[in-house]
Amino acid sequence: MNIKTPLSLLRTGALAGMMLIGLLFGRSALAVPPEAKYVGEKACVNCHQVENKHFGHTTHAKVFRQNPKNDTEKQVCEACHGPGSLHVPEKDNKNRDYLIGFTKEWGTPIEAQNGQCLNCHNGGQRLHWPGSTHDSNKIACSDCHNPMARFSASGLLKKPSITETCQTCHQQQRAEFQKRSHMPVPEGKMTCEDCHNPHGSVTRPLLKADSVNEVCYACHAEKRGPLLWEHAPVRENCVNCHHPHGSNHDKLLQAARPHLCQQCHSPSVGHPGTFYNASGTAAAALVGGTAGQRVIGRSCQNCHSQIHGSNHPAGARFQR
Ligand code: HEC
Ligand code: HEC
Ligand code: HEC
Ligand code: HEC
Ligand code: HEC
Ligand code: HEC
Ligand code: HEC
Ligand code: HEC
Ligand code: HEC
Ligand code: HEC
Repeated sequence: MNIKTPLSLLRTGALAGMMLIGLLFGRSALAVPPEAKYVGEKACVNCHQVENKHFGHTTHAKVFRQNPKNDTEKQVCEACHGPGSLHVPEKDNKNRDYLIGFTKEWGTPIEAQNGQCLNCHNGGQRLHWPGSTHDSNKIACSDCHNPMARFSASGLLKKPSITETCQTCHQQQRAEFQKRSHMPVPEGKMTCEDCHNPHGSVTRPLLKADSVNEVCYACHAEKRGPLLWEHAPVRENCVNCHHPHGSNHDKLLQAARPHLCQQCHSPSVGHPGTFYNASGTAAAALVGGTAGQRVIGRSCQNCHSQIHGSNHPAGARFQR
């Protein structure tokens, strides 16, 4: 019996498998024809001098040229754009099947584009990229990154800052940060990335930690406790009362006080939860009497001041 038979069978099988993958996923599995060869960056730079000049200032240019760790990095341009021998002849420069392009006009499938970057940047922060909201909405690495020049101080982003990069698509969130009370994102004291991981996460919506509260505790550590008297909604989720981006109510609150509290505490609390005029009666409420002490100033918090919980032995009702 010839020992080579099972091996060659295996090879034929693998080849058939690859062809099947090619058929199933179209160009994504085979982004450039398999006969394409690497030609080296000199050829590319000859025609693409302007692009090369800008590219020269980027992290990739420095690492790939001065300190390449492997054969792929040594290819410089072709490390990302794929082997270029078919694209190089002048008559074929415009053939979009012969090179991996990262612009919308060029039309290389998104999976093939992202696959090139993920060849080197798999894992780490991108551990949960596959299937993440951005991945499944067909967002490309190059929707946020432009490695062809240094547009941002760090991270090879498309825009000068992280927040501007995100806001090109997230107009609604941009508006939320314009509200009267907001997290200091427009002021540049923090960015979207302090709370979100745009590359994917196990916590919706793309949160950087295991829960909303863990995200907030990273900076507001004093709210973590432990506390002798817990206020249940605080422990459950900060966004029960706060909007994480911005609100027109004081302190990013979801609603004005006392309405905020009354969403959960009305009307059957120890003291009436509904009538907040001086006399505290339904009749006075109808004719609109003077505001009671439960709504003026900090409203319910005039008395229940430690709303995030209390460590005082007598703080059961968060009054101290
Ligand atoms: C003979 C000149 C020439 C050479 C050599 C050449 N290119 Fe090009 N390349 C062009 C031209 C011209 C276009 C524009 C085609 C168009 O506008 O449709 C182009 C387009 C591209 C694009 C697509 C840009 C887009 O719209 O997304 C990329 C990427 C690219 N080249 C990279 C390379 C790389 C990498 C190499 C080296 C392997 C290389 N080129 C070698 C002339 C050349
Ligand atoms: C780290 C990956 C990477 C490397 C290395 C790289 N490119 Fe690009 N290239 C991209 C991406 C991503 C884009 C799309 C940028 C955008 O959104 O406009 C691009 C765009 C281009 C374009 C289209 C015009 C433009 O600037 O948008 C050309 C031409 C090009 N690259 C040529 C080159 C050449 C020549 C080299 C080597 C000197 C090179 N690239 C190295 C990723 C790379
Ligand atoms: C051949 C491997 C390789 C490929 C392909 C590659 N990169 Fe990189 N990238 C690197 C290396 C090496 C560094 C240097 C930093 C490091 O050691 O991680 C880097 C750094 C980066 C950085 C950080 C830069 C900084 O200045 O902080 C970003 C962002 C990045 N790459 C995005 C991309 C994107 C987007 C693509 C696809 C268009 C891509 N890379 C393709 C190897 C690669
Ligand atoms: C929705 C926007 C967005 C998308 C899509 C995106 N990134 Fe990023 N990426 C960022 C931001 C923001 C940073 C942080 C930049 C900084 O700290 O200055 C970053 C940082 C990085 C870094 C440097 C830090 C690190 O993790 O080593 C790499 C590498 C990187 N991205 C690769 C990728 C790759 C590969 C893809 C595609 C699979 C991708 N990114 C898709 C927004 C994005
Ligand atoms: C090219 C457009 C684009 C850019 C740039 C972009 N996003 Fe997105 N993002 C989307 C789309 C599309 C969705 C899914 C639809 C939606 O929820 O609006 C999404 C969804 C999200 C979600 C909700 C996730 C979920 O599970 O519901 C978060 C959070 C998010 N993006 C954060 C960011 C951050 C942070 C940045 C900047 C680092 C960013 N995005 C940049 C297009 C973009
Ligand atoms: C202080 C932390 C924080 C910052 C900063 C932040 N987010 Fe969020 N974001 C959150 C939390 C928490 C949620 C989830 C809210 C919920 O569960 O109702 C969220 C939700 C989202 C969503 C899902 C839809 C929605 O509005 O509920 C998107 C999209 C989003 N953020 C984008 C952004 C963008 C873009 C930026 C920067 C401009 C940003 N976020 C900055 C904490 C933050
Ligand atoms: C990266 C750090 C950081 C994270 C994470 C963070 N915050 Fe903040 N937060 C700040 C800073 C800085 C301020 C502004 C404080 C100031 O201006 O005095 C602030 C302000 C606030 C304010 C308003 C305070 C005031 O006096 O107006 C509230 C409410 C708040 N944060 C709630 C949250 C919630 C809820 C979360 C989680 C979704 C969160 N924060 C996550 C840093 C953070
Ligand atoms: C039951 C509603 C409620 C919940 C839940 C809640 N807060 Fe608050 N928070 C408030 C109110 C009301 C204020 C305004 C306090 C004031 O004016 O004295 C406030 C104020 C703040 C402030 C600014 C003043 C201060 O005390 O530092 C921060 C920061 C804050 N909350 C963070 C958080 C964080 C983080 C969480 C989640 C662990 C959270 N809040 C959950 C109601 C709530
Ligand atoms: C999302 C719902 C929710 C909101 C909003 C909320 N609470 Fe609570 N609160 C609760 C729950 C649940 C408890 C625990 C009740 C229990 O243990 O029987 C509680 C307990 C209390 C207690 C202690 C009552 C007791 O029996 O020990 C006080 C006082 C209180 N809340 C005041 C407030 C005030 C003031 C506000 C507005 C700033 C507020 N709450 C907003 C849900 C809420
Ligand atoms: C003038 C001070 C004061 C104001 C203002 C006030 N409370 Fe109270 N609250 C108290 C006192 C005192 C108790 C304890 C009553 C008791 O033990 O019977 C209490 C008890 C409670 C309890 C616990 C009831 C129980 O069954 O044990 C809740 C819930 C509560 N208040 C909610 C609110 C809400 C919501 C507001 C605003 C709409 C508010 N309080 C405004 C003083 C106040």
